[in-house]
Amino acid sequence: MTVRAVQRLVEAELVLYDALVSEGALAWARQARRVCVGKRAGRPGVEQEVINRMLVRAARAGQRVVRLKCGDPFVLGRGGEELLALAEAGIGCEVVPGVSSALAAPALSGIPLTHRGLASGFVVVSGHAAESYRPLLDRLPPGGLTLLVLMGLANRAPIAGQLLRAGWDPATPSAILVAASTPASFTWSGPLEHLGAVAVPAPWSELPGILVVGSVAALPEVAELARARHLSSIERTAQPRAAPASLADPA
Ligand SMILES: C[S@@+](CC[C@H](N)C(=O)[O-])C[C@H]1O[C@@H](n2cnc3c(N)ncnc32)[C@H](O)[C@@H]1O
Repeated sequence: MTVRAVQRLVEAELVLYDALVSEGALAWARQARRVCVGKRAGRPGVEQEVINRMLVRAARAGQRVVRLKCGDPFVLGRGGEELLALAEAGIGCEVVPGVSSALAAPALSGIPLTHRGLASGFVVVSGHAAESYRPLLDRLPPGGLTLLVLMGLANRAPIAGQLLRAGWDPATPSAILVAASTPASFTWSGPLEHLGAVAVPAPWSELPGILVVGSVAALPEVAELARARHLSSIERTAQPRAAPASLADPA
């Protein structure tokens, strides 16, 4: 979260939040009424139209309202729809950017989205519905960039299959990052050819996860090897050396 987001939460009178918002973030809204409008424990979420009406009604009543989402509100978060609904109702609002999980989850695992010589760009795609991801994935140059699939954990097999059919190298490094930044996080990394068949056990299979495909996904392993080499070279240097003859204990 940004400092500005924290300020707005501290000042808020009403917070409408999504299920993926953390308790820690909500705790800043000390004086606000907090209403969860996201999907929780198998219960369906509140309809988008209803959320829009709640926002408009509360703003018209003069309340300081925060609509709190995970990550960035404009990355696969329907923030734009809510912005338009408010604009149509003649209500001004401020958009506070957030740190998208598309960027944060790989970073927390030591995966840079771009890296000189490996990837000079990245693409974020929703993996929720085949009709939206299929045409996009077919147009991507195989291996030329880092692919991040949000909401695609359950569709990892068809997504990996489509990339392979489109010409991506089966050895392309890939990763699955689940519940990043929480104590319950789960990470897998391996070649694209195995991505679709990876077993993600419960409860992680029910938690939010990101698929990363691209050479950069191998960098945590490369960094780990470099660290291990560095440590073993320190150990070698630290070995006690034989004392020069002149200093040797005469006894
Ligand atoms: C509806 S989208 C919202 C994305 C959000 N606006 C953002 O910028 O991160 C929800 C998806 O975000 C991803 N996500 C959110 N939090 C995550 C986390 N802690 N670890 C991994 N993926 C996460 C998952 O792909 C999840 O299905």
